[in-house]
Amino acid sequence: MILLFELSLTCLLFYSSAKRNDRPIIGVLTQEVWAPKPNQSAYIAASYVKTLEAAGARVVPVMIDQTPEEYKKLFNSINGVLYPGGGANITSSGYQRAAKIFYELAIEANKRGDYFPVWGTCLGYEQLTVLTSGMNLLSLTNTSGVALPLNFIHEAKDTRMFKGFPAELLDDLASEPLTANSHKWSITVLTHNTNKDLNNFYKVLSTNTDGKTEFVSTVEAYDYPIYGTQWHPEKNAFEWRKAFIPHSPSAIKTSFYATDFFVNEAKKSFHRFESEEEERKALIYNYSPVYVEPNGYFEQIYYF
Ligand SMILES: *[C@@H]1O[C@H](CO)[C@@H](O)[C@H](O)[C@H]1NC(C)=O
Ligand SMILES: *[C@@H]1O[C@H](CO)[C@@H](O)[C@H](O)[C@H]1NC(C)=O
Ligand SMILES: *[C@@H]1O[C@H](CO)[C@@H](O)[C@H](O)[C@H]1NC(C)=O
Repeated sequence: MILLFELSLTCLLFYSSAKRNDRPIIGVLTQEVWAPKPNQSAYIAASYVKTLEAAGARVVPVMIDQTPEEYKKLFNSINGVLYPGGGANITSSGYQRAAKIFYELAIEANKRGDYFPVWGTCLGYEQLTVLTSGMNLLSLTNTSGVALPLNFIHEAKDTRMFKGFPAELLDDLASEPLTANSHKWSITVLTHNTNKDLNNFYKVLSTNTDGKTEFVSTVEAYDYPIYGTQWHPEKNAFEWRKAFIPHSPSAIKTSFYATDFFVNEAKKSFHRFESEEEERKALIYNYSPVYVEPNGYFEQIYYF
């Protein structure tokens, strides 16, 4: 009885006085596997989970093929959502469908003053551009395995994402190839600038080029806590299979500071699960990542 009372008192104090939620839970979208097997129809590369955990968040997998009601309930239970990279179809797939539902719920919630951040990495950023513009506007670029420095468009102080990065790290990011690019599709700068929906919605923070085509590499939405990177913050510290992935001290810091930024955004959300039991059942800790065979792309994968 006393324990229960203390627990509820703690919760009450926490939820009534806190201006910040220091126990953020972030949803990470699962996506279809290329060749499904029994009990392996969807996956999350474990590096996304580790990166978020290392920055002080817990993770809940967002399963594909749930009902809109189930997604809405989950939306009201978590503090942000991350759309990972991968190979899912961004105009028609379970990944796309979940991304669209969460995007629309996030826009609506943020309009009401219910803060809810969204982050898209690589395919996730490409997915965001489809959701914002209503079209697939991607172009082929030669960027399927290369580390690049960022060509910053604004001073860090004029961006939400980079203003908390140490000045030295920003110098390194601008001059050293610290960001892993693993995509063949990109939003060209020309496409971005000439598409009203994209141009009015997202501020371009950095660009890159494959030698021929200049493409957008980092964005933040002007009026919403919605962020996209064409590069992979999660690979630097946790993926070792591709020679182009940078692991230098500044590369690891880049990964951390980008994720730290997003997790701090999630700390502005006060959504929570209806009960501790529901929270326990949803957390990624209920699943174990699998160490992938040598020819795989990732070190470890969660299968669902
Ligand atoms: C699939 O998962 C279910 C439930 O966890 C289990 O009972 C079943 O044995 C699994 N099947 C395979 C082929 O692993
Ligand atoms: C995605 O799905 C749509 C609709 O089924 C299809 O037309 C398109 O070719 C697919 N895209 C890719 C890259 O497979
Ligand atoms: C693509 O880029 C790589 C370097 O990242 C370069 O070696 C290769 O020649 C390029 N291919 C084409 C077709 O431009």
